[in-house]
Amino acid sequence: MIKIVAIYGSPRMKGNTALLLKQAVKGAREAGAHVEEIFLRNLKISPCLEIYGCKTTGRCVIQDDFQKVQNLLLASDGIMLASPIFFYTVSAHTKIFMDRCQSLWVKKYWIDQVQFGKWEPKRKGLFISAGATKGKKLFEGPLLTVRFFLDVLDAELWRTLLYRGLDFEGDILKHPEYLTEAFEAGQALARTLAHQENLMTTFLRLIFMVGVISPLTIENSFGIKVNRMIFSCPAKSFERDSILLRKSSMTEGCWIRSSRQVHWI
Ligand SMILES: Cc1cc2nc3c(=O)[nH]c(=O)nc-3n(C[C@H](O)[C@H](O)[C@H](O)COP(=O)(O)O)c2cc1C
Repeated sequence: MIKIVAIYGSPRMKGNTALLLKQAVKGAREAGAHVEEIFLRNLKISPCLEIYGCKTTGRCVIQDDFQKVQNLLLASDGIMLASPIFFYTVSAHTKIFMDRCQSLWVKKYWIDQVQFGKWEPKRKGLFISAGATKGKKLFEGPLLTVRFFLDVLDAELWRTLLYRGLDFEGDILKHPEYLTEAFEAGQALARTLAHQENLMTTFLRLIFMVGVISPLTIENSFGIKVNRMIFSCPAKSFERDSILLRKSSMTEGCWIRSSRQVHWI
């Protein structure tokens, strides 16, 4: 099942970005995803103390609620982040949380020595934001911040929903079309991730069907030469695929199944 983490970055529990993200969560759930909701304002997360305790392991050494959120993020396929615009960037709750992800930056670029820009996205991110004013550059700062935050999670910025002219709590309710857009974005994210997962599974199946069948000629205990096909499966789930091979009568013999290998003798 597709796993998505939804991060509420506003101090308002029923503010504009929170209501938008709620809709996106609803959409993603309706499309079959499992969504974990994280309300940053309810968590105890220290700012990054810049002590680089993460230098050897890539894990932040500060023991607080960040650890739980980090585990959820690393196990996720998609991330939905909502933050209001505060002084042309994300909210303090959001920024404190992002800064703690510096440990993941250390892991990626110092420990694993990944080259900048040379990585394949594993996750997709949706960013939702709202600001009171209508300036052209309103979202420029947060967009840069969000892109580099998602980078450490090997996530690409898949879509943004950015709304101007929303100030007071409940302003968003005057724009049901924005809420519908958020619902549809959540739905689309879950569907896109599911589609991607299906493609990957098909690809892996193909690899396993063609790549790891090793024919061997061996002598059995009666001294008779027989053909043996070894189909190696790294995961039990692929054993089902191996059954398909039974239909092809490549040689005479019978199947013997062990936990991770299927032998044709
Ligand atoms: C501390 C603070 C800073 C803000 N800075 C900006 C700003 O730079 N530009 C802007 O357009 N709105 C700014 N706003 C307004 C919020 O972005 C706006 O009210 C938004 O709709 C709040 O979203 P929320 O209800 O999800 O928290 C600020 C509000 C606060 C409380």
